[in-house]
Amino acid sequence: MTQLSPTSVKDALQSTVSIDAIHVQGWVRTRRDSRDFSFIELNDGSCLRNLQVIAKNTLPNYAALQRLTTGASVSVCGALVGSQGKGQKWELVADKIDIVGTADDSYPLQKKGHTPEFLREIAHLRPRSNLFGCVFRVRSRLAFAIHKFFQERGFVYVHTPIITGSDCEGAGELFRVTTIDCKKPPRTKGGEIDFAGDFFARQTYLTVSGQLEAEAFALALSNVYTFGPTFRAENSNTSRHASEFWMIEPEMAFCDLSGNMDLAEEIVKYLILDARKHCPEEMELFAKFVDKELLARLDFVIDRPFQRIPYSDAVDLLKKNGEKFEFPIDYGLNLQSEHERWLTEKHFKCPVTVFNYPKQIKPFYMRLNDDAKTVTAMDLLVPGIGEIVGGSQREERLEVLEQNMRRHRMDPGDYKWYLDLRRYGTVPHSGFGLGFERMLMFITGVSNIRDVIPFARTPGSAEF
Ligand code: 4AD
Ligand code: MG
Repeated sequence: MTQLSPTSVKDALQSTVSIDAIHVQGWVRTRRDSRDFSFIELNDGSCLRNLQVIAKNTLPNYAALQRLTTGASVSVCGALVGSQGKGQKWELVADKIDIVGTADDSYPLQKKGHTPEFLREIAHLRPRSNLFGCVFRVRSRLAFAIHKFFQERGFVYVHTPIITGSDCEGAGELFRVTTIDCKKPPRTKGGEIDFAGDFFARQTYLTVSGQLEAEAFALALSNVYTFGPTFRAENSNTSRHASEFWMIEPEMAFCDLSGNMDLAEEIVKYLILDARKHCPEEMELFAKFVDKELLARLDFVIDRPFQRIPYSDAVDLLKKNGEKFEFPIDYGLNLQSEHERWLTEKHFKCPVTVFNYPKQIKPFYMRLNDDAKTVTAMDLLVPGIGEIVGGSQREERLEVLEQNMRRHRMDPGDYKWYLDLRRYGTVPHSGFGLGFERMLMFITGVSNIRDVIPFARTPGSAEF
């Protein structure tokens, strides 16, 4: 007998008719015995729900089936029929159940709920839990929605390099890429490590951002985006920082700061709507078990324009409000997460885009404003998380850019190719970076970045 091609649990549950012969495979969530049958709850990760399988005691391997435990894998052939029990429309009455892989009692995902902290320690098994199955299905859907958003708007997807020689953000948070033998590195006459003898004949790093290379492509293809992994050797052990995370970076020629803010607002709303529309079961689970306010908050965000406010006004508001903050706030200081959260959660009660920051606290590539004090930076802040987007209009004037570089103690000689973009047909242009994990946290309500990325890399931790 030839094997039927398998149907997913999702498709089986969505069937509009009963099916005489169907083949489903997956993992046992639970099993219980009644007098003449065993009920198996089968899950294959295609959706949140399980398919109930009825194993009659007439099956030749019934004794073995009665020993099946949570976590075992099975392949089932039988008939999809209307269920008599409550809670499900369909059930699968099995003609044949092959036990593919057993699981013993040490299987750590038992029926009782587990904490996210415990599940983090078994990151290789946690996608089999309801919560993480939902998180990673939403992650997949939204990765697709990001491409859809940009492709519908005529943006070209650019694969910017992972290995790079430049420090885009100038924060020195770089992971070095090298093949030098650390026990006996090549040395210069002065005794320093000689990177001319390294693999790329220069110092190289894992990228912190694809922006600089995306700018080159925007100044040829007009509207482009990158979407890929970025790396930061930033020693911040917070619930919002990962050492490896994915970033979405659009870059637009002939676009100023206000067009940039518009696009950031548009994509945030688009992604929320997409998840609401295409992941209803998952969103319901988050609203039930992760954050009761989630759906109301997201719907509120979709419905209104975001607040926009210059940095200097934001600082005034923070200074005048009388709230006690742990970190100081004054003109010229970075907004800390508590300040960002006060603006979005307490004051405006909606997402806020703060723009025109003092030039001292922002990277070299941002366009200097006419006041010569501020640059065209913008950070989009959202309730519960703080900064989700960072971007700017870029400095398109060659001399001003060179001055900015010197002010940041950078050597313009190291960025000749980047400066060429201002020598040949320069145009005003803008872009931003949207942190994919932070967006996922916002949409799912999951409060730790380690729980929206399959295998998290954070300071001191790179297991799996
Ligand atoms: O504000 P950032 O550092 O901006 C840039 O890298 C620009 N070059 C982007 C651009 O204009 N093309 O980072 C952008 C976003 C942040 O707003 C945040 O959402 C996310 O990336 N991000 C992180 N997410 C997780 N872990 C970290 N360590 C992150 N650092 C930044
Ligand atoms: Mg930033």
